[in-house]
Amino acid sequence: MPQAHSSVPPSDASAAPSPKAGSARHLRIAIFGFGTVGSSVARILVESKPQGLELTHVFNRKVARKRVTWAPASIVWSEDADAVLASDVDVIVELAGGLDPAGSWVRRALEAGKSVVTANKKLIAYHGIDLERLAAAKGGHLKYGAAVAGGIPVIPGLEQGMAGDRIERLEGILNGTCNFILSKMEEGAEYAAVLAEAQAKGYAEADPTEDVGGFDARAKLAILMRLALRVQVEPEEIVPRSITLITPVDFSYARDLGCTIRQVSRAQQVEGRIAAAVGPMLVALRSPLAWSQGTENMVIASGHYGGDVVFSGHGAGGHPTAVAVVSDLLALAHGSRRVEIPSAPASLGDEFEVPHYIRFLVKDRPGIVAAITTALAKEQINIRAIVQKAGYPSDALPFVVTVEPCKSSALKRALAHIRSMDCMLVEPLDLQMLE
Ligand SMILES: NC(=O)c1ccc[n+]([C@@H]2O[C@H](COP(=O)([O-])OP(=O)(O)OC[C@H]3O[C@@H](n4cnc5c(N)ncnc54)[C@H](OP(=O)(O)O)[C@@H]3O)[C@@H](O)[C@H]2O)c1
Repeated sequence: MPQAHSSVPPSDASAAPSPKAGSARHLRIAIFGFGTVGSSVARILVESKPQGLELTHVFNRKVARKRVTWAPASIVWSEDADAVLASDVDVIVELAGGLDPAGSWVRRALEAGKSVVTANKKLIAYHGIDLERLAAAKGGHLKYGAAVAGGIPVIPGLEQGMAGDRIERLEGILNGTCNFILSKMEEGAEYAAVLAEAQAKGYAEADPTEDVGGFDARAKLAILMRLALRVQVEPEEIVPRSITLITPVDFSYARDLGCTIRQVSRAQQVEGRIAAAVGPMLVALRSPLAWSQGTENMVIASGHYGGDVVFSGHGAGGHPTAVAVVSDLLALAHGSRRVEIPSAPASLGDEFEVPHYIRFLVKDRPGIVAAITTALAKEQINIRAIVQKAGYPSDALPFVVTVEPCKSSALKRALAHIRSMDCMLVEPLDLQMLE
């Protein structure tokens, strides 16, 4: 394994003058991107007037339509990014999103010695390490407390509150859209109807793939793995599974097993071996993960010394996310130095060894269970239970097999054999079961 090294070279403390105890440094702030979060950040800065924070510039394309009556007349509204970057602002708050041009604005601000606060998980997941190095080299700071789980202080919690522990495991609900859809399906709704409701409420994009496919959650998991497990993993290494695989019948069987279904992001490090997964999984009804409803997010971080710590709350939305952004700005104004957590590049070389839920949809005939049992036994996989509910037609019969802890690769080999049976009407669905 490569030698652990600090992701951020030691910065020159004198480069960012710390205020005297009890006083805040005065920071001139420019918001880049006046959308849901940007306008909420402005609202808090204008209404609450946090000590030391002065909103001086707002940058957005076609900015005239963004002007608000409640903002002080002194604010410069601009659609010229270059001019705002060249101005005397101390901090750029990047809330436009995406890799480009947001990434180039952030880079240029840091190059100029300014500090940056962002909620952009994509940018931080892919370029966070380089940008932190740049910030440290140029005497500025990069803060991204809002990039994972919006208003829930998971990142500051891991960076500060749990820095003294050795975190071995992370489990979380990191995508509010998926949680909204799955918690509604739990109540009996169909996927397509709930997705339409989520889109109408502004929780889901017109193209929901980023969320439902697990791509958004894996970017967030990669950020948390760096801070918690201290490993730098490319988001692409984590192969996500889509929640679109889940049908109402899975919720019905899950309930019979004392579980529900959530999109879970999980990672662990055991003796240097790292595993990570994102996708729909069965969670026990007694687990805190099952309690999160609607767009709530949750992260459980398990420390070697301190045990489990649960973070939960509003993972998205303008105001909750803006609170995290303003908290980052206050930390800058008060000269709080973040704990520099060492991390090292790493690859996912391990798999979770957990029980699985496997749902089949078959045209019923004698011998199906015997054939499935044989294929599983060939891979040394032990069956825990076979569950078949009454009331389904025999020409499209769903039933479930749960198996004792096994590696996904062994199960995949067994299912490759099983899926070729002519009675199988659809691909068998296998889900990890969290215990
Ligand atoms: N919303 C949340 O709940 C939430 C939670 C956590 C993190 N975040 C992150 O916060 C960031 C902002 O999210 P948001 O929901 O506030 O997005 P949003 O509502 O779409 O706002 C983005 C703003 O940036 C402007 N913009 C985008 N590209 C631009 C460009 N190339 N030039 C000039 N202006 C540009 C947009 O202008 P137009 O109006 O012209 O499009 C819009 O005003 C994203 O990184 C997101 O992932 C959001």
